[in-house]
Amino acid sequence: MFQHIQPAPRDPILGLTEAFRNDPNPQKINLGVGVYQDASGQTPVLESVRKAGRRVLEQQTTRSYLPIPGSPAFASAVQKLMFGEDHEAIAAGRSATSHTPGGTGALRVAADLIHQHMPKATVWLTVPTWPNHPQIFAAAGVPTKSFPYFDPATNGLAFEKTLAAIKQIPAGDVVLLHGCCHNPTGIDPSNKQWGELADAVYGCGLLPLLDFAYQGFADGIQEDAAGLRAFCRPGAELIICSSFSKNFGLYCERVGALTVVAADRETADIVQSQVKVCIRANYSNPPAHGAELVTTVLGDPELTCLWRQEVAQMRDRINGVRRLLVDTLKAKGVPGDYSFITRQRGMFSFSGLTPEQVDALRENYAIYIVRSGRINVAGITEANVGRLCEAIAEVVK
Ligand SMILES: Cc1ncc(COP(=O)(O)O)c(C=O)c1O
Repeated sequence: MFQHIQPAPRDPILGLTEAFRNDPNPQKINLGVGVYQDASGQTPVLESVRKAGRRVLEQQTTRSYLPIPGSPAFASAVQKLMFGEDHEAIAAGRSATSHTPGGTGALRVAADLIHQHMPKATVWLTVPTWPNHPQIFAAAGVPTKSFPYFDPATNGLAFEKTLAAIKQIPAGDVVLLHGCCHNPTGIDPSNKQWGELADAVYGCGLLPLLDFAYQGFADGIQEDAAGLRAFCRPGAELIICSSFSKNFGLYCERVGALTVVAADRETADIVQSQVKVCIRANYSNPPAHGAELVTTVLGDPELTCLWRQEVAQMRDRINGVRRLLVDTLKAKGVPGDYSFITRQRGMFSFSGLTPEQVDALRENYAIYIVRSGRINVAGITEANVGRLCEAIAEVVK
């Protein structure tokens, strides 16, 4: 029965981690997978999460199933974090949030919803985008197309082209934007540009889908929600796919959320009833633990305060490493102006390294980078930055 099945290619990002693990070189460096690492190269358990974990364990009374969309307390905490406490979309009851297994789970449920209830819609993706985006929509039977986003000439946003392309998209389609810390480029629109994007998207009758996987990693927890708040206008409809893998360090717990913001409460309730159908047929109901940790942290002022400090620490380290990388590249004599790296936000930098240079870094120096040239800057430390920049100097020669 299985003999006709061909081996699948390795996942371009997770496959790299596998190869990294198998590399015996003690000086190997992993700048591939999007996982935060601290100055000692560890992916830590946040103290706020550890404290919440003790409480969750002590206070739990049952391990029975959660409701299909997860716990209402989690949904409420997520909405407040994204929109701010008193937002109209919360007060009007026109937002419905489901706890999903990670941001990936949220995207997949959104894709199933689009497939079943917007069967003519195409989902439009930025060029470039997270490589899993096209796979997730393809798996759900939703067609995707792309529109320009990154301008290699300026290492910045190709804003005019982005806007012009969005204005050509047929009404009824879906536009996927990254809420902040665009993966893989690290380039986000300014607040003014977010407003113009929202004008164009709604003006053309499109549905915005915001992938919000890095809240707090760019400029601040509130600041990073500016993009999605620009879309969350009175009566406007949108979908938000959140992930708490990065900002709570809960990668393996699989905690994310799908939020549908509808024009009014009645519509939100109807759409949510269909979201529940998609979830039931997919994984039935979500895994509890990660969401319990997030709900506990966000429900306790002291733990929230500690968590905010910890997110700020991660953000500051990443931004510090960006400066360190640019300075060290210069000090090691790597030709070119890399100052754009300090203008990018979040864990990723689009380095401009070619696939051949990336291969040479892996083969000759045990430095692992995604072939697109995307670098996880959080994998850089004081201890490895010198060796990294010397290797880059060699391969770009
Ligand atoms: C842009 C983007 N969206 C979604 C996700 C999914 O995150 P999760 O691990 O929570 O599924 C990621 C993770 O790398 C991401 O970079």
